[in-house]
Amino acid sequence: MRKKIALIGGGQIGQTLAMLAAQRELGDVVIYDIPEMESCVKGKALDLMEMAPCGNYDANVTGTSNLKDIAGADVVIVTAGVPRKPGMSREDLLAINIKTISEVAKGVKQHAPNAFCVIVTNPLDAMVYVFQKVSGLPPSKVVGQAGVLDTARWRAFIAMELNVSIEDVAGTVLGGHGPTMVPVPRLTTVGGVPLTDLLDKAAIDRIVERTKEAGTEIVKLLGRGSAFFSPAWASIVMAESYLKDKKRVLPCAAHCSGQYGVQGLFIGVPVRIGAGGVEKVYEISLNDAEKAMLAKTVEAVKATVAECKVEATA
Ligand code: APR
Repeated sequence: MRKKIALIGGGQIGQTLAMLAAQRELGDVVIYDIPEMESCVKGKALDLMEMAPCGNYDANVTGTSNLKDIAGADVVIVTAGVPRKPGMSREDLLAINIKTISEVAKGVKQHAPNAFCVIVTNPLDAMVYVFQKVSGLPPSKVVGQAGVLDTARWRAFIAMELNVSIEDVAGTVLGGHGPTMVPVPRLTTVGGVPLTDLLDKAAIDRIVERTKEAGTEIVKLLGRGSAFFSPAWASIVMAESYLKDKKRVLPCAAHCSGQYGVQGLFIGVPVRIGAGGVEKVYEISLNDAEKAMLAKTVEAVKATVAECKVEATA
C-alpha cells in the first residue's frame, strides 16, 4: 500500500510540495486548505494527475477542505499561514500564523496522530514549538524545516563563489531561522578541502551575511510572497528520510532536551531522521565564538516563543 502525504496549505510551497512528492512517488498526496481555497486545491490536484503521464509517476493527488481526508497520513507537512511581504520580518507573521498553527495542530492530532510532522510556517522556530505543544504529539515526530534550506542556501552561495559543483559542498547551518542563524565555516568543506583554505575571511563573511538574509533577498525580488521552490524541496528531503528510513543527518529545528544547553526549545541542530522520526540529536564541539553565536540565536528564539504564551494540551 502506498504511503500518504498530507499537505496542510496548498499555496506556493504546498503546490510545489505536491508536485515533488508525486514526482518522487513518495505516496498519495492530499492537499488540504481552507474552504475558500477548496476549488483551487482541487484544480491543482487535478493538474498534477494530468501531469503524471508526462512525468511518469503513479500517485493519487487530491484537494480538499475536509480535514478528515488527512486521516491515516504518514507524513504531514504544514505550510498553512501567510508569507512575508517586502519589509516584513518572519516575526511580523507571528500574531496571524499562531492562530492558524494552533488550529492545524488540533486537527492533525485528531485525524493523523501517528504522522511525522514537518512544520514550514514562519516564524519557524516558534511555530514548530506551538504546533508540538498544542498537538501534544511526541517531540520526536514534530520537526521544523529551516536548517536544510538555510544549509542549501549556504552551499549554493559557496558553489557559486568558487564555481564548483554543488555536490561537493558540505556544511551546516545551526540555530534559528532568521538573521541570528549560524553558518559554520569551520565545518564546511568542498570536496574534502576546508572552506577556510579556499576563501579569505572577507569572502566567507560576505557569504555568511548573504545566507542569513537569503530569504529576505528572495522576498524583495519576488515582490509578492516568499521563497517556495527551495523550502518545498528541503521539506521533501526530510519527509523522504522518514518514509524510507534513510537515516539522513540533517540540520532541522528539533526539540532539544539539554543538548547545547537548550532545554525544551526547538532549535536548528543536526539530527538523524529515520522511521522513528527524529532519532538522535548530534552535539557538535563548538569553539567559543560559535558557542556565543549559538547562544545569541537561542535567545532570539526564546524571545519569540515567549510571545506565543502557549499552554501545552498534553
Ligand atoms: N488551514 C489550511 N490552510 C490554510 C489555513 C488553515 N487554517 N490558513 C491559511 N491556509 C492556506 C492559505 O489559504 C494558502 O493557500 O495556507 C496557504 C499558504 O500559501 P501561500 O500564501 O502561498 O504561502 P507560502 O509561500 O506557501 O508560505 C507558507 O511557509 O515559509 C513559510 O513564511 C512562509 O508562513 C509562510 C508559509
